[in-house]
Amino acid sequence: MPEEIDAAATTHAIIDAARANLADDVWDYIAGAAESETTARRNRLGIDSLVLRPRVGRDVSVVDPSASLLGHRLRIPVVLAPIGALEAITHDGGIASARAAERFGTLPVISSVTEPSFEEVAAATPGPKISQLYIRGDAEWSEQLIGRVVAAGYAAIALTVDSAHYGRRERQLRSGWRPPTHRGGAPEPGIVWQARLTWDRLEAMRERSGLPAIVKGIQSGRDAEIAVERGFEVVWVSNHGGRDLDHADATIESLREVVDAVGGRAEIVVDGGFLRGTDVLKAIALGASAVAVGRLAALALAAGGEAALVRVLEILEEEITVAMALLGVTSLSELDEGFVRRAPAIPAASPLLAAFPERANDWPRSSAT
Ligand code: FNR
Repeated sequence: MPEEIDAAATTHAIIDAARANLADDVWDYIAGAAESETTARRNRLGIDSLVLRPRVGRDVSVVDPSASLLGHRLRIPVVLAPIGALEAITHDGGIASARAAERFGTLPVISSVTEPSFEEVAAATPGPKISQLYIRGDAEWSEQLIGRVVAAGYAAIALTVDSAHYGRRERQLRSGWRPPTHRGGAPEPGIVWQARLTWDRLEAMRERSGLPAIVKGIQSGRDAEIAVERGFEVVWVSNHGGRDLDHADATIESLREVVDAVGGRAEIVVDGGFLRGTDVLKAIALGASAVAVGRLAALALAAGGEAALVRVLEILEEEITVAMALLGVTSLSELDEGFVRRAPAIPAASPLLAAFPERANDWPRSSAT
């Protein structure tokens, strides 16, 4: 871990380091999205199309940015989204995420398609963790998988539902880089099961686990309503970072609809393009309990493993705390819709770089076409 990352003052210094460390094909795996990458850009555009409306004349000398999810305290309202193939990004893969989350004080969501295994990650880190599952087999197959995560002591399960098909990620098609589960040309046969996933199956898995359950990949109020009826405790608004369906809505827009449909009956997580403290506060103002970061966490791990990821979370905490004070609030519960308003965005060159415009021209292969 180079000293300059440990002390990095800004997130873009860490992303610079990630870019320098990563081969082009792995950078493209992380930064890329499906087809024209419009969904990914729209996620950012949605966030950039909200302005913040501060209040003044309030004592903000002490600000508390903490939140909670499923009864677990979060030092800031940011959790780590599941990332597959982390072992290609940092040598200890999912263990680095889990350790960083534990050290900082948030929840990691460990992907079922990352190394090492759920059991090894659990053995390496005692703190609370969520397991994210792709359903890639029959009922017996999922029975076994759920048995494993329950035995390993995971605090909750997150079932991903937005990936009935692996999106056509053109950067990967061009480079030929595949996550290990897709190597050998054709997608892993198990992926077909994701196309067969129904609410009955999801509910059965939720019940079988006996754990609090999250449904990840909800993009409409209609599906949020079903998720609540089916007993899910958390609705996770996500379009998979734009990596599957192209031309989907910005998640910050879907969030409004989902918040209305859920009506306080479940907690809500949102992801897609969140890179800065102000981004996070916009989602909280609209009713999210927490935001998840995908690419930002993956790039931090590429820059300097666990320590760089902790540093990125610290920077987010600093940004959130400063912005809360400037908004005139001392706790997240004071934020509501009145603190945001839709306004034309300043156009961004690419989803990943929108929050770092000064670097838009010097990160190679980053602009979406
Ligand atoms: C992902 N995502 C993902 N989601 C999931 O449920 N299981 C997984 O294994 C993965 N793998 C994965 C790998 C990489 C490299 C990325 C970038 C993303 C999606 C992820 O959890 C999250 O929904 C998005 O990344 C959120 O968008 P941002 O924060 O990346 O813009």
